[in-house]
This record gives sequence, structure tokens and C-alpha cells, in this order.
Amino acid sequence: MGFNPLQEKGIPIDRQFRNWSELNVKPYDKNSVDPYTQCRVITMNGIEVEAVMFSHQFARHTTDLDLKRQLALVRRAEQQQQKAVCWLVPGEASNLETVIGYEQVAVDLTAWVAQNEPNPYARQAYEFGLLEDFDHLYRYANLMDMLEGKKAEKIVKGLTEITPGRPTIAEHRHPMDDVRKPLDRNKDDPRSLLHALTITAAEQQTMNYYMNIGNRPTEPMARGLYLEIAQIEEQHVTHYESLLDAGASWAEMLVLHEYNECYLYYSFMQQEPDPRIRQIWELHLAMEIEHLRIACELMRQTDKKDPEAMLPKELPEAVTFQSNKEYVRQVLGSQINLTANETEFVPVETLAPDHRYFAYQRVVNGHGPVPSEQVIDKHVKAKGREYRLEVIGPSPVEEFRKAG
Ligand SMILES: [Fe+2]
Ligand SMILES: [Fe+2]
Ligand SMILES: [Fe+2]
Ligand SMILES: [Fe+2]
Repeated sequence: MGFNPLQEKGIPIDRQFRNWSELNVKPYDKNSVDPYTQCRVITMNGIEVEAVMFSHQFARHTTDLDLKRQLALVRRAEQQQQKAVCWLVPGEASNLETVIGYEQVAVDLTAWVAQNEPNPYARQAYEFGLLEDFDHLYRYANLMDMLEGKKAEKIVKGLTEITPGRPTIAEHRHPMDDVRKPLDRNKDDPRSLLHALTITAAEQQTMNYYMNIGNRPTEPMARGLYLEIAQIEEQHVTHYESLLDAGASWAEMLVLHEYNECYLYYSFMQQEPDPRIRQIWELHLAMEIEHLRIACELMRQTDKKDPEAMLPKELPEAVTFQSNKEYVRQVLGSQINLTANETEFVPVETLAPDHRYFAYQRVVNGHGPVPSEQVIDKHVKAKGREYRLEVIGPSPVEEFRKAG
């Protein structure tokens, strides 16, 4: 029998608050941390930020003071969880070193989700986004090598390759072509709903991060690269959030959020090699079980519906951080030329010359250097070649093989 969070007993909500020193956790060591421990920390930070922001939005859409108080209560615990997770990231890591971790999450979490996604359209959406974040990893790795003299291989440790993906310059699409067809909570496998929530939260956190730290460098090209990629993360949030079933009620969405938090903490505590961090995942799971119970009660009251009907009988197979090099290469080798036309993914060469894609490209990429290209050109000029980490062999894409 698997684990069913609906049948477990969690920590009562009035016993979930912790003091400042408990929350001010000792950060991991950036040199010895397992790359996937870092990825789990970044992911759970994104999940907790989404929990908080979703709860705020919910509160802004109800006039019921009792409900607002209930939301405020659980939200305070979510905020504490966010601090305990996010404060694991050490101050010694530069923004760019942390960015490499963010893009590694975007590659390997999305790759796992795509391979385990039951809905073929959603799977295609994940593979589509995957190649774009894969390219971001390569652009930022070149920037970091140039500005800080640090190699991204010290962070990803060969688990994720670093080589061009769908070139960032080509990712800039008209906003209307980033909206996808939604999943259906009554027809789709619950795993699909959970996957979409997870990846939306991760991308949103990346978007927020670049929105705020992108102005920290003094070097204009670095500021430019952050702002250019931040705009793609906006596209990614639009892309993934439109997969969510917006027909769900606020209470249903709350239940799904809490269930997903249980699912991820349960998944990650099984894989976590660092015992101290594993304890945090275990503690937070016990808290989430209670959040889920409260959300289910709310759904029964407000919607007069049974939350069990929407949820699996037990948690699905654990979400896993693992190396996906072969899989990413296979997607790279077959989908590099895709773009989007409304909700469909099509080869860019099939677009009519007057498609809005080209008009948008002319606006943003016209007149002046494109930072994502400039960063590679400058690296080649300064060091004689670009920075890559091709672990299994040359790029599966012919035109990317001649390294600078
Ligand atoms: Fe949480
Ligand atoms: Fe990205
Ligand atoms: Fe992204
Ligand atoms: Fe929660």
C-alpha cells in the first residue's frame, strides 16, 4: 500500500509555528552539496512561494472574514516553511551560481515530468519548454565563466549537460502564442494536474528571481542577459499556467496545492541524502498533511463536494531528481526547430512570413545587440571558445557541433 496523505495525521496547525533561530537554518555548503539537494531546495522554495501567493489571491477574492482568518493562519505556516527552505541557500553562492541551480531545476524537473506525463499534449508542452531552459543554462554558464571565472560544471557536476538548446534569441514569441489548452480536472489523470502546478510554481519562482536580481550586476551585458531571459520566464509562466484547469473552484485549487505539497515533500524525503535536510522535508510533510485536511474540510463546506473524488487513492510515483542526459539529447535532436502558433507546436519554417512571431522578433531583437548572443560572442573573443559541458559527446544538433 502506498502513502495516502488524506489518511495520515499531521501536526495540528496551532503547533506549527517555529521561533526565529529554528527558521534561521544553517545553509548547506555550496562546494559539497549534492546538485540535486540544491535542486530540491530551489523547487520547494518555488512551491512554498506559490502556496503563499495563491493564498493571498484567494483571500483577495472573498468577503468572508472567517475564511480570510483561516487562510491567514495556514499562510503564516507556509511563510515559515518558505523561510526554512530558502535560507538553506548559502550567502557564499553568488547570484549567478544560484541561477545555474535554477536552470538545472528547470531542465531536470521538467524532463522527469515530461517522461511521466500521461497527457500527450501536456508532455509536448514540457518538452517544448525544456529546450528553452536548457539554452538558458548554457548562456548563464558562459556569463559566469566570463564575469566570475567560475565553471558551471562545479555546480551541475556532470549530471546535466551544458550546450546550446533552442537558441534564446528564437524563443521570443508573440504573447498570444504562449497560451496553451487547459487540462480537465474531471477527465485528466490527477498526476497531470499536479505536474502542471509544480512546473508553474518552479517557473514562476525563476521569473520572480530574475525580475529582482537582474539589476544587481554592473556589467551592461549581464543586466541585459537577465532581462532578456526574464522575459522568456514570463512566457514560460504563461505557457505552463494555461495548462492548469482554471474551471476549478478556489477551494478545489487550494486542495490541489496542499496535496501537491504533500506529494513533493514525501517524494523528496525519500531521495534526500543529507540527513539534516531530510528532517526538514519530513517535518514539512507532517505540516502539509494538516494543511490538506483543513483545505479538504473547506472544500466540503463551501463546494459541498468530496475532495477524495478528485484525488488519487495514494500518492503517485515519487517526483525524482535524476540525470536525464540521454532524454534531453533525444528531445534536442528532434524538436529544436519548434515554435508555437496559438496553442499548437509547429516547425518555425511552416509559419507564414507575415506571422506575428516575425513581427515580434523584429521589435525585440532589432537594432542593437541581443544579450543572449552577445554573451557567447564575447566569451569566444575573450577565451577563444565558448563554455560547454558535453559529457556524452558532441551536440545532437548538427549546426551546434562546431564549438567556437
Ligand atoms: Fe507549504
Ligand atoms: Fe530558464
Ligand atoms: Fe523557464
Ligand atoms: Fe501547505
